Amino acid sequence: MRLIVFDNQKDIANFGADMIAEVINNNPCAVLGLATGSTPVPMYAELVRRYEAGELDFSTVRSVNLDEYYPLAPDNDQSYRYFMNHQLFDHINIDKNNTNVPDGLAADPAAACAAYEEIIRDLGGIDIQVLGIGGNGHIGFNEPAEALDPLTHLTDLTEDTIRANARFFESEADVPRHALTMGIGTILSARRILLIATGEAKAKAIATVLSGKLTTSCPASLLNLHSDVTILCDRAAVSLCDPSLLATL
Ligand code: F6R
Repeated sequence: MRLIVFDNQKDIANFGADMIAEVINNNPCAVLGLATGSTPVPMYAELVRRYEAGELDFSTVRSVNLDEYYPLAPDNDQSYRYFMNHQLFDHINIDKNNTNVPDGLAADPAAACAAYEEIIRDLGGIDIQVLGIGGNGHIGFNEPAEALDPLTHLTDLTEDTIRANARFFESEADVPRHALTMGIGTILSARRILLIATGEAKAKAIATVLSGKLTTSCPASLLNLHSDVTILCDRAAVSLCDPSLLATL
């Protein structure tokens, strides 16, 4: 696990964009695993800037997103499909037919989840998976629990997550109570993982991840099973980490 601590969001966005650019430059048909939420927004803006500057070409890139609220229509302005279009896809030359977000209106969610796994398999797997992290340690919508699902599945959101995400909705009551999400195994099958964490609200979860121990009460801790994880943090996000541990990373 590689940890890099930055003084500001701009440097995090640049470093993250460098990693994604490297993947695309090595393979123009790369499969990007993407996340929503506020954390990756500056990095997406930097990718758009590089595209506009003629530095990056997304024309043959493919993408799969981590998750989607359920039930929620793709054209709802709170859906993750809408978020991706507005933050990234509408501003670069990616072919939207090559972008995948779980179907928030699937009539048969179990079948849709199985089909999503097949899409990822047919694409040849994910080259780099971008992740944010919940204050409770969730990745995707894999919430803390006694047992975790390995593959894409329909899940209930925890009260913590509903409260945290209420800021994007008119009221807490409007936050969907369920989501379709890649499972921990889906995420761990990506060839590289890029986790970004900023702000004090993520400090406890990051301290647990960096302790190196595995616990389903902090699903992100299972990233310790992967051999190619880069974590980009600001100082606030590592404020609860054991300094002697930090020195060894
Ligand atoms: C989003 C996702 C979530 C977020 C996490 C952090 O696709 O899967 O795990 O990454 O909730 O959200 P922000 O970045 O808004 O703090």
